[in-house]
Amino acid sequence: MPPRIKTISALKEIKEILKIHDEAWNHSTGILGLLKNSSECFIVLDNNSLIVGYAFVEEDRIRGFVELQDIVISPSYRKQGYGKLLMKTIMKKYSYIKLIARANNQSLISFYQDLGFNKDSLIENYYDVGEDGIRMSWQSDKNYLSIQPGRKND
Ligand SMILES: CC(C)(COP(=O)(O)OP(=O)(O)OC[C@H]1O[C@@H](n2cnc3c(N)ncnc32)[C@H](O)[C@@H]1OP(=O)(O)O)[C@@H](O)C(=O)NCCC(=O)NCCS
Repeated sequence: MPPRIKTISALKEIKEILKIHDEAWNHSTGILGLLKNSSECFIVLDNNSLIVGYAFVEEDRIRGFVELQDIVISPSYRKQGYGKLLMKTIMKKYSYIKLIARANNQSLISFYQDLGFNKDSLIENYYDVGEDGIRMSWQSDKNYLSIQPGRKND
């Protein structure tokens, strides 16, 4: 069976998501804020239906885009295409996506650029003093505001 993507409204998989989050982000409590602020959570499953990663987005319906708040693939599953699969799923659902990446993480910036994201601007000291962020964005077409804000027509 190929990998599958689920979205969750019911958060019954939250324990697995917390585990993957804590491996990536050094036990920060950030996930609670992410969960509180997120409009949608996507999870990717391997072919044994184990959760191997997740992504959260926050919809800004007034301004017509979604903000990618977090994406993590469990370390032993990286570089197998799961991250891009998750991103492509989100890009099918939303037509205008923004995110902020660490400016010194070139492989992460390349990961987003390969998917079609552009670098928009540098945000100095975004993460910490001397740790800048890069604002990046992707739009599927220029007419996104004439359709339902932030979403493609299904
Ligand atoms: C960023 C992240 C989500 C990417 O996930 P991933 O599953 O490793 O990504 P993919 O496998 O889809 O693609 C990554 C790379 O693996 C390559 N790849 C894909 N399938 C591959 C395969 N079968 N064999 C070898 N490489 C492969 C891709 O070509 C891509 O190469 P690139 O580095 O030249 O762009 C993951 O590295 C991660 O969780 N990082 C820590 C958390 C983080 O920094 N999150 C983002 C900020 S919020």
